Amino acid sequence: MSNVFYDAGEHRAAKVNDLFARIARHYDLINDLQSFGLHRSWKRRVVKLAAVKAGARALDLCCGTGDIAAALAQDGAETTGLDFSAEMLAVAAERQQADAKLKTKKLHFIQGDAQQLPFPENSFDIVTVGYGLRNLTRWERGLDEMHRVARPGARLIVLDFGKPANALWRAVYFTHLKMSVPLIGLLFCGNASAYAYILESLKHYPAQLAVADKMRQLQLTNVRVINLLGGAMAINYGEKPV
Ligand SMILES: C[S@@+](CC[C@H](N)C(=O)[O-])C[C@H]1O[C@@H](n2cnc3c(N)ncnc32)[C@H](O)[C@@H]1O
Repeated sequence: MSNVFYDAGEHRAAKVNDLFARIARHYDLINDLQSFGLHRSWKRRVVKLAAVKAGARALDLCCGTGDIAAALAQDGAETTGLDFSAEMLAVAAERQQADAKLKTKKLHFIQGDAQQLPFPENSFDIVTVGYGLRNLTRWERGLDEMHRVARPGARLIVLDFGKPANALWRAVYFTHLKMSVPLIGLLFCGNASAYAYILESLKHYPAQLAVADKMRQLQLTNVRVINLLGGAMAINYGEKPV
């Protein structure tokens, strides 16, 4: 049976937007619970790969409540977090205001569509997206846009759920996404379907290997796949040639 929040067609974006509007206030807590807190270390890995240099400009797409964007700003990048959900952005802005150190950083959030970025080409030294590409109507379009706004030499980094190559591990992991994650969603957010969406969207997303292929098609250099937890999570990395 298909998921109420997953739509393969023209209503995809509206349904995804509705989903994040509903869960925005519980998003951070449930992220910690469903990943046993591990998402924090995976995001730190993303920020380490971003290797922020003085004066760097960073863009974090599908920024949600803003943790990757905030970490890039803490490292000294002039950072923009972009998301299409007003509710997720409201949480991001509140978090920034509540954090004395973050308030003084060059960090701002804007509402926009990751598939149609409101920036000219060659604008950023770092372009990241965490758990975002999988949610786009056309993930390839998101990567095209990341490439377009990246400056020569920029680092493009994608973090998302992956598909483990090992069939047994994949079955165990998909069972976790099918059973435990919606249960956590139901218990802590009153919404099982919003969390059952993760598995549904992952089934329709070709994950780390296809993202790496697309990065090569875009002629990025140093293209790498960093598998985490045996490929259950993955970071794709590439650099725009100078
Ligand atoms: C799973 S959350 C990820 C949030 C954050 N990056 C993280 O790692 O925790 C996905 C985010 O993508 C946003 N999103 C989905 N489709 C989008 C689009 N077309 N343009 C911009 N944001 C989008 C959602 O609103 C949501 O905040």
